Amino acid sequence: MSTDVRLLFISGSARKSSYNKKLARLGVAIAEANGIPATFLDLGDYPMPIYDGDLEAEVGPPDQARKLKHVMGLHTGIFFASPEYNSSISPLLKNAIDWVSRVREDDEEPLEVFRTRVFAIGAASPGALGGLRGLNAVRQVLELGVGALVLPEQFAVARAGDAFDEHGHLKDKDMQGKYKAQIQKLARAAHVLHG
Ligand SMILES: Cc1cc2nc3c(=O)[nH]c(=O)nc-3n(C[C@H](O)[C@H](O)[C@H](O)COP(=O)(O)O)c2cc1C
Repeated sequence: MSTDVRLLFISGSARKSSYNKKLARLGVAIAEANGIPATFLDLGDYPMPIYDGDLEAEVGPPDQARKLKHVMGLHTGIFFASPEYNSSISPLLKNAIDWVSRVREDDEEPLEVFRTRVFAIGAASPGALGGLRGLNAVRQVLELGVGALVLPEQFAVARAGDAFDEHGHLKDKDMQGKYKAQIQKLARAAHVLHG
């Protein structure tokens, strides 16, 4: 596989003990164990105000949105681990995507950073459905909103408080295997798209 393939794992929660951070960190570990370079990104390191058109008109997108877009641009495949809030996308993740979608350099096509990468999505939740319903919203934002290519596979880790072992692996081996397959497919798709 091309050494150009690099995967970025982003949690839609900045909470210290976030299950979605665990899922994103596990993704990095699985990728690296399979020879795929990968990075974990904490959205808590990119604090941004809630999107506001007046603020944008006055001072433009926040520097953190530019920095986040830059890091996204260094990777060819991006995985979002998004918690479900009231059956929808995490507001932290939505706000980050909204701001990044407003950053455009002079030589760029609209939404270029989203349209030139491959995405995959998953969720973790203490609930019985694992945040599965929220992934519909995540997919809608990415596919319809910013024109991203999102792999059809997705999965949700239910009862997340008891789903990870002491090494951060999923206790359910089938689920761990599904995650690994999804990551390998994300890397292959990024390779096909980026050479
Ligand atoms: C406002 C709010 C709404 C929530 N709605 C849902 C929901 O619809 N489905 C669900 O599975 N969990 C829901 N949860 C629980 C979250 O999944 C839980 O807080 C989870 O731990 C958040 O993700 P994190 O562990 O990555 O921070 C909700 C939590 C909050 C605070």
